[in-house]
Amino acid sequence: MTIHPKLPTNPIFVALDTPDLDKAIAWSEELHGHVGGIKVGLEFFSANGAEGVRRIVDLGMPLFLDLKFHDIPNTVAGAVRAVADLGATIINVHAAGGPAMLAAAREAAEKSVTRPLVIAVTVLTSLDDSDLSVVGQAIPARDQVVRLAQLAKSEGLDGVVCSPGEIRAIRDACGDKFKLIVPGIRPNWTASSDQKRITTPSQAHNDGADILVIGRPITDTKDPAAAAIRILEELGFCR
Ligand code: C5P
Repeated sequence: MTIHPKLPTNPIFVALDTPDLDKAIAWSEELHGHVGGIKVGLEFFSANGAEGVRRIVDLGMPLFLDLKFHDIPNTVAGAVRAVADLGATIINVHAAGGPAMLAAAREAAEKSVTRPLVIAVTVLTSLDDSDLSVVGQAIPARDQVVRLAQLAKSEGLDGVVCSPGEIRAIRDACGDKFKLIVPGIRPNWTASSDQKRITTPSQAHNDGADILVIGRPITDTKDPAAAAIRILEELGFCR
């Protein structure tokens, strides 16, 4: 029997963008109980591999393993099986890999003992309309995002990663149950850094985000736990 993971009530997944395992563990321990989960990505995985992921999972918080798989269906299915066995709660693949690849990813997740949520990446937020046109995609980024979200939904994926400005359009197109994972979150008391399309935690939550991916507003502070608590309070979670 497969178990479908439930997302935590606390919607904050803190992005630990570091190759340093000790630092990631220290942050995770400090934030335990104040965030709903941890997100690590390619930088962390390339430096620390499966063993590093196990060390984070062992700390007992849900893990979003942000590796954005994009390959032929058979290879993606194998990669999904491998990371599902590590105990990740959320994994992701590029929707542009197409219907067969998305279906292969979902089927591999469904067959694993701890069934992770499989989330699609639509159009990277680093790409604008002119970048898409250079790679031969003539339709506007916003339309391509909705199109790929609908494709992911039709192949049975659990949701998408999207920018704050895309939440409402995807919610309208894909319905209430489709999970929306949203980076680009900035409380109004922090710097926007390199993020361009940003919104506050409350606005994203009110617009319908299920998970708020927040990195530097928490990790680049002297007291990460205090920053996470302040965001939670702004979201109306009383502690
Ligand atoms: O520090 P910050 O809050 O900007 O971190 C956001 C996290 O979300 C980073 O790990 C970044 O790579 C990720 N992300 C993003 N925009 C996307 C997809 C992922 O900022 N479109």
